[in-house]
Amino acid sequence: MPVKRIGISTGGGDCAGLNAVIRAVVLTALNQFQWEVIGIEDGYDGLLNDHCRRLDYKDVRGILSLGGTILGTTNRGNPFRYPTKVNDHVVMVDRSDELIQKIHSLGLDALVVIGGDGSLRIALELIAKGVKLVGVPKTIDNDIEGTDMTFGFDTALSIATDAIDRLHTTAESHHRVMIVEVMGRTAGWIALHAGLAGSAHAILIPEIPFRYEPICDMILARTKYGRRFSIIVVAEGAMPLGGEAVYRDKIANRLGGIGQVVADEIANRTGKETRVTVLGHIQRGGSPTAFDRLLATRFGAAAVHLIAREQFGQMVALQGSRLTHLPIAKAVERLKLVPVDGELAQTARDTGVVFGDEAVFDETMLDATSQARRAHDLRDSGAFDTNRQNP
Ligand code: F6P
Repeated sequence: MPVKRIGISTGGGDCAGLNAVIRAVVLTALNQFQWEVIGIEDGYDGLLNDHCRRLDYKDVRGILSLGGTILGTTNRGNPFRYPTKVNDHVVMVDRSDELIQKIHSLGLDALVVIGGDGSLRIALELIAKGVKLVGVPKTIDNDIEGTDMTFGFDTALSIATDAIDRLHTTAESHHRVMIVEVMGRTAGWIALHAGLAGSAHAILIPEIPFRYEPICDMILARTKYGRRFSIIVVAEGAMPLGGEAVYRDKIANRLGGIGQVVADEIANRTGKETRVTVLGHIQRGGSPTAFDRLLATRFGAAAVHLIAREQFGQMVALQGSRLTHLPIAKAVERLKLVPVDGELAQTARDTGVVFGDEAVFDETMLDATSQARRAHDLRDSGAFDTNRQNP
């Protein structure tokens, strides 16, 4: 049966670029295939609550650069385990049949599901029940397998990098240790990329449990050679070796607070003044970067073409610079974490970044300015005196 009408939803945590995908889906569907597009509000909830509306040219005009999502979203709307109040108790009810019924009654021939791994997992369960859909991966965390990048990540990264740049100047003025806590759940992509781009001195990520000794040694060595400030980027899911991740709300699975824990411990151990900045949802808001606008637009158009070719159950993806697709089932098999022996982690180590897993902190790895000071001090101490007789 030829496709005539498609639905589109945005689920899970929002990120910059969602509107760019919606726009690209609507424009491609209208321009290339003359399909009708129905926007489903608040993830899958719109289908259960009858909050769906037709999207036309006028609805997507001017939204390419707009943050958030014009459709709304939620990260609590799983139709298979829908929280429902029964006799003053909240119980999980399977409302998936109701949802599928709604898809049929709206005459939706296929869905474009824009979501992170949670929404894509739900999509997989819907596919098993016969729903025709394609996936578009989104998340600032960049932790979806099968795609090198998710849109939203580049924007979050540039926000985090800008914050680190700003913290550098105030850290240096006050001779403080500045700790920046960034998002990313169990993946350290934002922390690693922003830490490198912002020239942080230590980067703590969930994939590499850390110890305080090498971090404090680095801070003290920098102080000794005249660099009296240090910048530490901490991913919200980072944890000390043998310790646990810090949650703001464990039941709701909300990470947060490790920055303060690290700051307190460093202050205790080094006597240095520390300050914490938690970037939080600032990383998800605002206008997408040019990269994210482009990626989101390419993803949106490609998703419509997948439907046209009846390649249901697939997710669009970026591999290298090539736009491609893979089964959603493959993409959600596991999360894409930072390879601890990968090129990026190695580059960080090569340029003197401390991860906290070093056996000892090696002073020769100090940054260029500190190294110059160190060389100067060694010269002053006579260590480089060629006339000096070795004992
Ligand atoms: O998955 C995206 C993300 O921003 C994570 O980095 C973060 O842990 C989480 O969502 C925060 O979720 P919420 O918006 O529910 O606080």
